[in-house]
Amino acid sequence: MGHDMEQEHYFTAEPASPSGKMEIAARLRGVEYKFFTEAGVFSRFRVDRGTRLLIDALPLPKQGRLLDLGCGYGPVGITAAKEEPELEVIMVDVNRRAVEIAKENARLNGVKVDVRWGEGFAVVPERDFSLIATNPPIRAGKQIIYPLLAEAKEHLAPGGMLCVVIRTKQGASSLEKHLNNHYGRVETIDKGGGYRVFAAHI
Ligand SMILES: C[S@@+](CC[C@H](N)C(=O)[O-])C[C@H]1O[C@@H](n2cnc3c(N)ncnc32)[C@H](O)[C@@H]1O
Repeated sequence: MGHDMEQEHYFTAEPASPSGKMEIAARLRGVEYKFFTEAGVFSRFRVDRGTRLLIDALPLPKQGRLLDLGCGYGPVGITAAKEEPELEVIMVDVNRRAVEIAKENARLNGVKVDVRWGEGFAVVPERDFSLIATNPPIRAGKQIIYPLLAEAKEHLAPGGMLCVVIRTKQGASSLEKHLNNHYGRVETIDKGGGYRVFAAHI
């Protein structure tokens, strides 16, 4: 039986398809970037609209630690590291191919980041992030995402925040309630094109 890559979800741990590597370009926060992307990695033809809204909205700290949770090929963490060279950027993804290509993309764009392969916080013991940013894997389902976003709170430094982008029609209001149940304060920091960016403060 043939294997149809397009049927394979982008959060698969080890995608089985041939790589289909390509390069895309994007201007983000006023800077030109190039990214390698591959089959089996989220949004490989262009930077996702939600991701772009998230990147534009992020209140980047000058120092401290930032976590790009579910980094894919790396646009969130790489743009943060480029703009704030003193920021320590950690990136994690459960998809091994995403991790490898995010490492390549860091080199391609001349930034130093720490990219880790693993599920959620299993390989992220740090508990002092100033900012955790994520375009969460909606297709993985609430049963995966909700606990992950609640757990993120345990990894924030005092005064830290979690920034999450979500498609308004893919459960933004229920996500907002969920965040309100776990965080001290939740605000919408940007919206547009059918997406919302929430910032949840401890
Ligand atoms: C919507 S994509 C966003 C990717 C990238 N940040 C971007 O915006 O282009 C979500 C990412 O989360 C990853 N992911 C899914 N479940 C995960 C988990 N439990 N832990 C870490 N990463 C996960 C997927 O492999 C995917 O790369």
